[in-house]
Amino acid sequence: MSDAAGRGQWATGIGFILAAMGSAIGFGSISRFPMNAANNGGAAFVLLYGIVMLVIGIPMLIAEFSIGREAQKNVVGAFDVLERKPRSRWRLAGIFFFTLAAFFLSWYSVISGWVLRYVFAATTGAYYDDPTGYQFETLEGPDALGWHFVVMAMTFVVLTTSVSKGIERLNLVLMPALFLIVAGLVVYALTLPNVGPGYAFYLQPDFSAFTIGTFAAVIGQTFFSLGVGMGAMMTYASYLPRQASISRNATIIALSTLGFAFMCGLMVFPLLSSFGLLGTGVAGLDLIFGPLAQAFIAMGAPLGLIVGTLFFLATFFAAFTSVVSLAEPAIAYVVEEHGVQRKRAALLVCALIYAAGIIAALSSDVLAFEGGAFVDMLLILGGLLIALYVGWRTPVDVARARMDSGAGPKVSAFVLPLVRYVMPAILVVLLVFSIVGSPCALGGTAGGSLMAQTFGVPVLGC
Ligand code: PHE
Repeated sequence: MSDAAGRGQWATGIGFILAAMGSAIGFGSISRFPMNAANNGGAAFVLLYGIVMLVIGIPMLIAEFSIGREAQKNVVGAFDVLERKPRSRWRLAGIFFFTLAAFFLSWYSVISGWVLRYVFAATTGAYYDDPTGYQFETLEGPDALGWHFVVMAMTFVVLTTSVSKGIERLNLVLMPALFLIVAGLVVYALTLPNVGPGYAFYLQPDFSAFTIGTFAAVIGQTFFSLGVGMGAMMTYASYLPRQASISRNATIIALSTLGFAFMCGLMVFPLLSSFGLLGTGVAGLDLIFGPLAQAFIAMGAPLGLIVGTLFFLATFFAAFTSVVSLAEPAIAYVVEEHGVQRKRAALLVCALIYAAGIIAALSSDVLAFEGGAFVDMLLILGGLLIALYVGWRTPVDVARARMDSGAGPKVSAFVLPLVRYVMPAILVVLLVFSIVGSPCALGGTAGGSLMAQTFGVPVLGC
């Protein structure tokens, strides 16, 4: 499918929704959210996440979508179109977005490679004899490099063709499969003995656990999950036809991300509790490769092999649909701003991202640094740029018209003030905290960097 200007376009409305959900649902929902919630007030955290999703997540998503859908261009060219001049200063913001997304992907792909390796290991039980040794071997070195290559090669294959044939078809298959697997595992977990403590560990509401750090953790979770401020959502929205509703789509996408993350907790904790592996104090990716991997061993063959494979497969599907969305902004830029053929642009971008990830694949310390406090800051900065552009740079009536045009409910009267006043205020506070060493300042794990919470990697100095 392409539009009048020969640009790619989504063939179906559901294709766009699933692709954007694919971008949003990733390690943030599977490995970060469950332990984050359990440690920070259980059901109270889930409730707060829901509120923040409504008040901050959806408006940010609408703001980012409104730029992409209006301009129908890559993240750099979009600002020229909206500014109505050929080389506007805002192009720099676009360059920041796609570079940030590509850099983010350089280590995100390495981690996706770890998971892909475990998909195969889980089918045969290859890690069963020495789970810790296997994990160690996976995280850095030649194996990690090889699997990083496989992930970027797969990304190239998907992105080499048009948006509707590549990204859209991929998500049309992988997203329903992901939901089915996770829903299946949630139901399976229900049937296991001794799961009560698991649900209690996850959901026991504890409002007294709330600190300013909890709040920062929830906002961090929202940003990381929706992936706003990196141009991925803006690029996806640029392939929407003009009459598509952005408010309705943004709401569906944000609420499904929330619901999916909630389901992940219902999958993880009963499994752990049933096999006596609960409460070991591990979070993030360590949870997946540590206690969860142990639970599959404890199930015994063949059940453990099947459940383990399905679990790692689902995690990989979630990760890979995010991976693809992170490479697209750079590819769209190269194609549209430099007139390069899509195939070549995809090859160039995927090769560069692969190369940029080599050091992270060889050293998990480098990976921890790249994805650590540093990324917090860049993500927040990206969000701030969007809030400032839509909220302040764009005249109010124009910004409102862009949000409200097309089908669906007109929500700009509520959304624009949030984007204009609330968003910048919150983001500036978070930015300051993330620069001044948020994890310690905000009270331990609750305010830890995105990386620390997602991947269980300790952060500098805390
Ligand atoms: N949202 C993805 C996750 O939760 C990560 C991501 C960030 C994807 C930014 C795209 C853009 O893992």
